[in-house]
Amino acid sequence: MITVPAGAPYAKLMGLGVYRPSRIVPNSEIVGAIDSSDEWIQQRSGIRQRRWATEDETLQMMTTEASRRALEDAGVDAAQIDCVIVATVSHMMQTPAVATLVAHDLGTEQAAAFDVSAACAGFCHAVAMANDMVRSGSARHVLAIGAERLSEITDPTDRGSAFIFADGAGAVVVGPSETPGIGPVVWGSDGAQYDLIRSREDWRDVIASDEPRMPHLVMQGNAVFRWASFAMAKVAQQALDLAGVSAEDLDVFVPHQANNRITDAMARSMKLPAKVRIARDIADQGNTSAASIPLALERMVAEGEASSGDLALFVAFGAGLAYAAQVVVVP
Ligand SMILES: CC(C)(COP(=O)(O)OP(=O)(O)OC[C@H]1O[C@@H](n2cnc3c(N)ncnc32)[C@H](O)[C@@H]1OP(=O)(O)O)[C@@H](O)C(=O)NCCC(=O)NCCS
Repeated sequence: MITVPAGAPYAKLMGLGVYRPSRIVPNSEIVGAIDSSDEWIQQRSGIRQRRWATEDETLQMMTTEASRRALEDAGVDAAQIDCVIVATVSHMMQTPAVATLVAHDLGTEQAAAFDVSAACAGFCHAVAMANDMVRSGSARHVLAIGAERLSEITDPTDRGSAFIFADGAGAVVVGPSETPGIGPVVWGSDGAQYDLIRSREDWRDVIASDEPRMPHLVMQGNAVFRWASFAMAKVAQQALDLAGVSAEDLDVFVPHQANNRITDAMARSMKLPAKVRIARDIADQGNTSAASIPLALERMVAEGEASSGDLALFVAFGAGLAYAAQVVVVP
């Protein structure tokens, strides 16, 4: 008969770490190429400035640095990590996964390591998997990371997306707990809307082209906006219901930082009480896809808007259209 290991009763977020690239790019620097204005961008998206990585700030470097900070915050040694999950859509090598490089750089002892491609919902997918691993006994400590270098795959002349996407990394250590620290995930996808956010072309088209160029992201912004504003409030409510809590119980709401107006629409639909603090990291960080939720949570903690033990709701959505939501206790 097969022996099955016993997992921990529950899992929790034990520590949080982020890496914000050093280069700050204000709207004024990008508006010329897209015939736009600082006022339009702020009004439509809430973005004042974003951070773009310098040459030295590679995806691997940012991911490793955020992970080191998360390990330090958690008081966990790299050797204790059994699995490294990196959610990203901007690793430029088809294989192997950037997670294997990060696991090595950190000094884990041959931790399992793989990447997750669920776009802006990737971090919440990674947290959900880490939660299940710790509870099933297949890992005791897991690094769940969202990391992106989207500036490399953003077309600076595309009016619909050039002002949105940005770079950064955020990591959490997920480990065993005596009390529930991560609620059940609500997740899904809608491949019928695959075209709404995607790479402009695949690598075969790039190679066949007379003028090969990086396959940049393209987006039907308005359709994404309408979908996210309506559908995601329901997903958020399901995550609350499954966790057995109500909006009244929440301390902080940390949605994917896609657009402040989507955040506002979700908060209205969910009838979030005014006392619930809402993440607004997008204003200074832009949309960092898989990295946006840990980055946004870190800013709230750093600015005293969120504290250890607070109840937080994560909701993430993006290309795929993939989405995921869960309630967590802030580490
Ligand atoms: C991209 C986004 C900010 C655009 O805002 P919008 O209100 O939907 O804008 P529209 O595309 O409907 O365009 C409205 C007008 O602004 C103009 N416009 C579009 N891009 C512009 C820009 N960068 N600067 C100035 N004007 C612009 C359009 O030409 C249009 O003008 P018209 O009314 O004269 O035709 C918004 O759709 C959005 O944020 N969508 C969600 C994107 C997202 O979250 N993506 C990531 C998910 S992970």
